[in-house]
Amino acid sequence: AEQKATNVHWHEGDITREHRAKILGHRGATIWFTGLSGSGKSTVAVELEGVLHEHGVLAYRLDGDNVRMGINKNLGFSAEDRTENIRRIGEVAKLFADSGIIALSSFISPYVADRDAVRELHVAAGIDFIEVFVDCSLEAAEGRDPKGLYKKARAGEIKNFTGIDDPYEAPPSAEIHLHSDQQSLDEEVAQILGELRERGIIA
Ligand code: PPS
Repeated sequence: AEQKATNVHWHEGDITREHRAKILGHRGATIWFTGLSGSGKSTVAVELEGVLHEHGVLAYRLDGDNVRMGINKNLGFSAEDRTENIRRIGEVAKLFADSGIIALSSFISPYVADRDAVRELHVAAGIDFIEVFVDCSLEAAEGRDPKGLYKKARAGEIKNFTGIDDPYEAPPSAEIHLHSDQQSLDEEVAQILGELRERGIIA
């Protein structure tokens, strides 16, 4: 989105990301889950949040409830609205990560270009961005159908449903590739924890 306001300036404070990390004992980062509806994005994020909490690591989940009912309540599911949805969530995640928290973002985020824009935002600011592809066959996701939405989409009651009559662009090079229709939740969480430790984000 273009910058509309002129004469706005970033006001640098005295307390840096490093100062905040010293209080918390870990760095902030954004973990970006992407995948089909029903692929298990939120399930992994909830489990990971619990494990991080046990380790004394501050994490915060961004997902449908606190975003699409709040800051993004004026957005639907057109391509333009999905792009704006992801742009705003990316900016919010970046703020959380900059504050020292591990932001766990779970949205379909179907477009490569939108996810790459969020990655670029983080890279430019020197903040870790870890894209996690929650890979799950359409058959498995549709078989789960926790909210009955695939059924409605097949019946034509919901238009532009991701995977049915709307695209999902799989990540060509996600940092982490999970297979949620084949792996256990514990394995998935362990894989992400490993990446966080390897990068020195958590001890
Ligand atoms: S996006 O594409 O990233 O902007 O979507 P997201 O914000 O993650 O919202 C996806 C959830 O909204 C419900 N829903 C739909 N999904 C896909 N396509 C259409 N048309 C649609 N309409 C409603 C659906 O429950 C998704 O939930 P999840 O948690 O992904 O299963």
